[in-house]
Amino acid sequence: MKKKIVLAYSGGLDTSVLVRILSADYGYDVIACHVDVGEAKDPEQLRARALKAGAVALEVASAREEFARDFCLPALSANALYEGVYPLSAALSRPLIAKHLVAAARKHGAVAVAHGATGKGNDQVRFDLAVKGLAPDLAIVAPQRERNISRDEAIAYAQQHGIEIPATRKSPFSVDENLWGRSIEGGVLEDPAAAPPEEAFAWTKSWRDAPAEPRLLSIRFDGGVPVEVDEQGGTVAELIARAGAIAGEHGVGRIDLVEDRVVGIKSREVYECPAATALIAAHRDLERFTTLAMTLRVKAFLDQRFAELIYEGFWFSPLRGALQAFNAESEKSVTGTVTVQLFKGSLQVVGRTSPYGLYNHGLATYGREDRFDHRAAEGFIQLVGLQLGEWGRRAGKPA
Ligand code: ARG
Repeated sequence: MKKKIVLAYSGGLDTSVLVRILSADYGYDVIACHVDVGEAKDPEQLRARALKAGAVALEVASAREEFARDFCLPALSANALYEGVYPLSAALSRPLIAKHLVAAARKHGAVAVAHGATGKGNDQVRFDLAVKGLAPDLAIVAPQRERNISRDEAIAYAQQHGIEIPATRKSPFSVDENLWGRSIEGGVLEDPAAAPPEEAFAWTKSWRDAPAEPRLLSIRFDGGVPVEVDEQGGTVAELIARAGAIAGEHGVGRIDLVEDRVVGIKSREVYECPAATALIAAHRDLERFTTLAMTLRVKAFLDQRFAELIYEGFWFSPLRGALQAFNAESEKSVTGTVTVQLFKGSLQVVGRTSPYGLYNHGLATYGREDRFDHRAAEGFIQLVGLQLGEWGRRAGKPA
């Protein structure tokens, strides 16, 4: 009997070719596993394509809400932006896909899992580390990493072996999409000096085509979790999708970043993450409004580590769990509503309200209602500057 392997299957040309390579050259029975993180492909079409390519079975996991709840929300709590810019959309989906690969491997008694990631990207690191963290007994096979199959070779192989070549218009870019964002790489984008062409974008309007009037968008949070977008409730995935549609309509969420890959390469990456951009901006603002400064300072450091950890593929690590536990505690007061203004590619927070807001008008105002004890400031500065005064008197004299 042949050994079984579970392959992460997108339904595209590359992973269809991998089905055949894994069964013909590597000698496995291949179970194709498609995890829907927001693209919603037709399962029957996927099944037909996978079986035609030589798979013995297809597993489809509808993981949209799971992705939203268990991956996007923790990232939102951490205001997670890699290198301060990238909301980690692709990075967040890999551990979820790996989790479903492992589940399918257990269900079918497979000895290995496979993915189509290349040897120079981050995704291979994320898939491999996630599988190690969850199921260290499973072998990991990455034929694309071993063989570096070009696009033309994949097409030739598909034609030779009667594998269906998807009719979708061949994009000049490598695209990865999910609820949290869309990443676009390759082609003319490899010149970091050249502006991304308009055709690279699908979810965000150019500022030129965006509405001529600014749009206010309100986002309500309860304990750090978005519960209403534009004054309407819904599931987490629905709220994320709604925020993304509205922000994208106004050209918000385009990102152009020369980023540091795990393998040491600097690469030019283009993203459109309208939902993540709007939600993180609103969340971060409400957090500032409702959280003690001392907590915010520690959290800013931990948030940066969280983003790096996710980028580097350590989702299934005890540190990620510990950081999430910290956030669960610090987020308790992050309840309230933030209003952002969207206008021709720009996003600005323009207002916030919260029952836990730490802003006290009596303390902050320069007007008549001022309740702040001005004289207390004098004593405060005296003590805080005590040592500096001593230093100034002795060593700090001008020459
Ligand atoms: N650079 C991004 C990341 O590492 C995007 C990767 C997208 N992956 C892809 N196969 N196109 O998270």
